[in-house]
Amino acid sequence: MDSKLVIGNWKMNGRTAANQALVAGMLADADINRAGVGIAAPDIYLSQLATMLQGSQIAVAAQDASRFAADGAFTGETSAAMLADIGCRYVLVGHSERRQYFAEDNAALSAKLQAVVAAGMVPVLCVGETLAQREAGQVEAVIGQQLEALAAINGQHYVVAYEPVWAIGTGKVATIEQIDEVHKQIRAVVLQCYGASDSIRVLYGGSVKADNADAILSLASVGGALVGGASLEVNGFGKICQAA
Ligand code: G3P
Repeated sequence: MDSKLVIGNWKMNGRTAANQALVAGMLADADINRAGVGIAAPDIYLSQLATMLQGSQIAVAAQDASRFAADGAFTGETSAAMLADIGCRYVLVGHSERRQYFAEDNAALSAKLQAVVAAGMVPVLCVGETLAQREAGQVEAVIGQQLEALAAINGQHYVVAYEPVWAIGTGKVATIEQIDEVHKQIRAVVLQCYGASDSIRVLYGGSVKADNADAILSLASVGGALVGGASLEVNGFGKICQAA
């Protein structure tokens, strides 16, 4: 497998001055300022981020892209082509918060995946089950259904992120066994059905912190981490990047 990838997802956090200080700290940290690290900022701050990261190793990532690929009358939308234009390399697609609050389904996500790939960026498809689905024994079925969106970009370069919904922002981390089991299932499905190669990265996300990053990232089935809260602070994020 290629080296591990760590993407910090700021979610809807940040202000110009605070971003300036946070990114300056990250640039000064050799564990963060290296290939294999990315930051996903809110759209409004992506240009600021791209400018600050110019000449660094850290990749710029977006948290979402419009399902509409062509420019036009789509008020409030940001197209994949626009994200590529300002220097994004990765785009999160189908984060559970997008699925939950914006009712994103596989039809929308397929269009987003296609738009991101067509614009020359790497989509990170996020999948994961709720606690109720896990307790009902539906993990494999739910994730299998979410992965079907990848049919739209079969054989293209993409990343998958496994984020159990019940572990996001809750401090509850999936056990190493649970993570390994689901990651292996995801790898098997994408290798068999969606044109992935052995080097496919499956990231884990959900309360990844400095103190659990080592154990999670040492799993061979884990290709990196998608980090929420802990990416808003240099020291913790640096330790996670170091573990990768
Ligand atoms: O995309 C990252 C994510 O949803 C996990 O968030 O705060 O639990 O690390 P957090």
